[in-house]
Amino acid sequence: MRMRRKRNLEPRMAACGAVLLARGRPCPNLKEAAQDFRARLDLAALFGGRPVELEVGCGNGGFIAELARRCPDVGFLALEVCDNVVLTAMERVLRENIPNVRFLNIPAELIPCYLEEGSVRRVYLNFSTPLPERNRARQRLTSPRFLALYRDVLAEGGEIVQKTDSEPFFDYSLEQFALCGFEVKETTRDLHASRWAADNIVTEYEAAFAAQGKPIFRAVAVKRGKI
Ligand SMILES: C[S@@+](CC[C@H](N)C(=O)[O-])C[C@H]1O[C@@H](n2cnc3c(N)ncnc32)[C@H](O)[C@@H]1O
Repeated sequence: MRMRRKRNLEPRMAACGAVLLARGRPCPNLKEAAQDFRARLDLAALFGGRPVELEVGCGNGGFIAELARRCPDVGFLALEVCDNVVLTAMERVLRENIPNVRFLNIPAELIPCYLEEGSVRRVYLNFSTPLPERNRARQRLTSPRFLALYRDVLAEGGEIVQKTDSEPFFDYSLEQFALCGFEVKETTRDLHASRWAADNIVTEYEAAFAAQGKPIFRAVAVKRGKI
């Protein structure tokens, strides 16, 4: 179902300027844009030298807001392609006075335009769209081209934390992690019944899937030194 466009979207986006670092414009050739455009962020200045973590596809921002509250000594970047959606996340962070979250309203394809190599210590992928159709495999957020982007921005020993409700997508992701220079650990096929449940922050999609009785899959993929 298509989401209705929010009222007064543009003035409300403008009012979130203090937490919005970048806004992608429609762009016919993302590859070219990524090659030609560099407006890299000064993360040390932004977050006072704190370690930085990135959520890709933050949705309404419930996860990143809670994580940022729990970890005040970490700087968080929340990336979301849809302006209509990221607006909710930004307004929440401003309303709740959470100081250590900033937003990138761009497609994940443009990560290298904004982030230096090795500048992030963790990437969160929460309930990325599984895209089961074969001809959409390239668009999955754990396909090799995206894993290469995360690998570049991750510091040595940095990691991806993935959660999903889709077992085929999970299996696909585990395979791609291993093929693309990551070592997989802390795998569970029922997060809510696992030893990681106590510290888990339930995202908006996760709450909906769990309410339907679906198990939640989770894995951590650690960047290996060499592929
Ligand atoms: C299924 S929702 C999950 C939202 C949230 N993480 C949660 O767990 O509740 C996936 C989100 O990823 C965003 N997304 C999908 N592809 C993206 C891309 N290439 N770059 C940035 N965001 C993307 C979508 O707009 C959507 O908000």
